[in-house]
Amino acid sequence: MAYSSFAIVLALCISFQLAIHVQGDSSLIESTCKVTNYYDLCISSLKSNLTSLNADANGLAIIMVRVAMANATATNTYLSSQVLSATNDTLMKKLIKDCAKKYSYAIEALQASLQDLDAELYDYAYINVMAAADYPNVCHNSFRRSPGVAYPHELAAREDGLKHICEVALGIIDSLGR
Ligand SMILES: *[C@@H]1O[C@H](CO)[C@@H](O)[C@H](O)[C@H]1NC(C)=O
Ligand SMILES: *[C@@H]1O[C@H](CO)[C@@H](O)[C@H](O)[C@H]1NC(C)=O
Ligand SMILES: *[C@@H]1O[C@H](CO)[C@@H](O)[C@H](O)[C@H]1NC(C)=O
Repeated sequence: MAYSSFAIVLALCISFQLAIHVQGDSSLIESTCKVTNYYDLCISSLKSNLTSLNADANGLAIIMVRVAMANATATNTYLSSQVLSATNDTLMKKLIKDCAKKYSYAIEALQASLQDLDAELYDYAYINVMAAADYPNVCHNSFRRSPGVAYPHELAAREDGLKHICEVALGIIDSLGR
């Protein structure tokens, strides 16, 4: 009798600890996202990768930067396909081609920030993500300097998307103790 109640208490303790463990992981995601400017975007981005449940704060930053890379890559691919369909408009074609290049620079900057995060060089990681978030501006500005050519709505939405993801990544990196 004494033995079986001991076993029950032990089992309860173990499941309680497991519960705390699981709870703790998802609450790290929540507390981390709370310091960023876009809580919902942060939560949905991190939860898109199941490894986030077992990640520490640095791991969450890495996952977020990877999400940014996927987003920049999607836009780079989109722009590259647009270059082919805009064949009749040489100025538009040139602008889109230049923008594709800017998004590829953004991918490179994010790649560099991943290496910085691996090395726990948070200042450098921050600077590289800032650079990545600025390349869409360079693209937008080249359209601003070309009167008569409208900045495509699709590109405007993608610009905002990448910037917001980068802003979330910056918030997380900032909280890592820059
Ligand atoms: C999820 O995150 C892990 C750790 O950062 C990474 O190795 C993996 O490639 C990510 N998966 C996807 C689908 O991005
Ligand atoms: C391409 O430009 C030429 C010359 O301006 C024009 O005649 C032609 O209709 C255009 N084609 C398309 C598909 O817009
Ligand atoms: C990137 O962001 C845009 C704008 O929010 C969104 O439409 C698109 O689905 C995102 N792409 C990826 C791969 O996350």
